[in-house]
Amino acid sequence: MQQVNVGIVGLGNVGMGTLTILAENAAEISAKLGFQLQVTAVCSRSVAEKTLPPGLETVLRTADWHDVVNDPNIHIVAELVGGTSIAKEMIDAAIAAGKSVVTANKELMALQGPGIWDRAIASGINLAMEASVAGGIPIHAVLREGISGDRVVALQGILNGTSNYILTEIEKHGTDFAVVLAEAQRLGYAEADPSADIDGYDARSKLAILAALAFGLQVVPSDIHTEGIRRIGPIDFQYAHRLGHTIRLVCAARRTQDGVFLSVRPALIAQSTILASVQGAYNAIWVRGQYGQDTFYYGRGAGPNPTGVAVVSDLMRVAREIRSGSPQRVSPFAHERLATNRPLPIELQKSAYYLRFRVQDRPGIIAALASILAEKHVSLDAVLQLPTEDKHNLPFVITIEPCEEKAVAEAVAKMATLDFMVEPPLALPMERPL
Ligand SMILES: NC(=O)c1ccc[n+]([C@@H]2O[C@H](COP(=O)([O-])OP(=O)(O)OC[C@H]3O[C@@H](n4cnc5c(N)ncnc54)[C@H](OP(=O)(O)O)[C@@H]3O)[C@@H](O)[C@H]2O)c1
Repeated sequence: MQQVNVGIVGLGNVGMGTLTILAENAAEISAKLGFQLQVTAVCSRSVAEKTLPPGLETVLRTADWHDVVNDPNIHIVAELVGGTSIAKEMIDAAIAAGKSVVTANKELMALQGPGIWDRAIASGINLAMEASVAGGIPIHAVLREGISGDRVVALQGILNGTSNYILTEIEKHGTDFAVVLAEAQRLGYAEADPSADIDGYDARSKLAILAALAFGLQVVPSDIHTEGIRRIGPIDFQYAHRLGHTIRLVCAARRTQDGVFLSVRPALIAQSTILASVQGAYNAIWVRGQYGQDTFYYGRGAGPNPTGVAVVSDLMRVAREIRSGSPQRVSPFAHERLATNRPLPIELQKSAYYLRFRVQDRPGIIAALASILAEKHVSLDAVLQLPTEDKHNLPFVITIEPCEEKAVAEAVAKMATLDFMVEPPLALPMERPL
């Protein structure tokens, strides 16, 4: 075999980034491989309107992905479409046709990846998905190979660039959430339907994949405790800063004797931690190993070129394995078999908490709140109130000492019923550093 042939399905952000790198960086890629990695077919619904990078003028262009998957000359299919329907059909068809698959599809891999890998193994082909978590950060390679000799005990990640961009804009400029979201949509950083990003679902898929890589767990994404960032406002950053913290959408995983806690939610993190310095659309993952201790990975979590690098690097790895004919492939989930455990209920975890209230001011408010906390055996740590004029919508914050989250949730639910509340209290965990 002189060269390895690739068919690219999906010519959107990631597909075009991948094609551009393959075309522009072809000499360097061939020099590294010792053979040519050749795109021979491209596919998207509107393929006729696409301008391909120079050097790809003669490749097969098609709007029907079956043409790529059924092409006998293609060795690897890159699925860069997304979603869980067509993409799943296409990957299954590629595997059945004996073609290796490279994908960037976090949603599908989080939901059905292990089953797809089983079918890939049975067909003797390979499956690679570096781009599915944190775009340009090679976290799969790290967990699958780089630190696979260690035993991961915990990790914390910022895995959604859109929500991190929104939070850091609120933090920098003191602008309200809705205004920043509208601006992010105008600039193309946030989708017209922003829910997957700001409600934490995109990050949840990525955390499910990381749970497989780090702990060997096959987790149903909807079993992961998930909260979004819609309620975070400038006032929360003012209070968080007073407390020496900032706020990020944190993906957290912690191994205990009884199982693993997994959560995606906005949380206070200490400004002294390296994670707190992650700004804008950047992503980061902080991993604690039992033996190697801390490692930290930082980079662009999305975008055509950073994600394209991850796809191209996967294509190169898979192409090498095809050329060498090695039947022994490292699982893309870093474990020979995954255990199908549910994460531990988050209510059992112990955390310190930040509670932010908006109340109609009147005497006895703190006493009423303190009495609910005492009833639930929750210890109040501090009360903070910044100067404000509006006594009808008075914000203030109570921090509480580490305790079981179940008790906090019960206390907050009861507090929400008090007649002086302008809105339900906002409860954010104060994530302890790894
Ligand atoms: N965007 C990022 O930075 C990023 C980062 C990491 C991972 N990912 C993942 O990468 C994947 C692709 O994301 P993206 O942002 O590149 O999406 P995108 O810009 O929406 O591109 C999707 C592409 O798929 C094509 N397509 C859709 N249905 C098709 C069908 N039935 N047959 C053939 N082609 C079809 C579209 O064709 P038309 O152009 O003709 O409509 C488009 O070219 C997703 O799984 C995403 O989660 C994206």
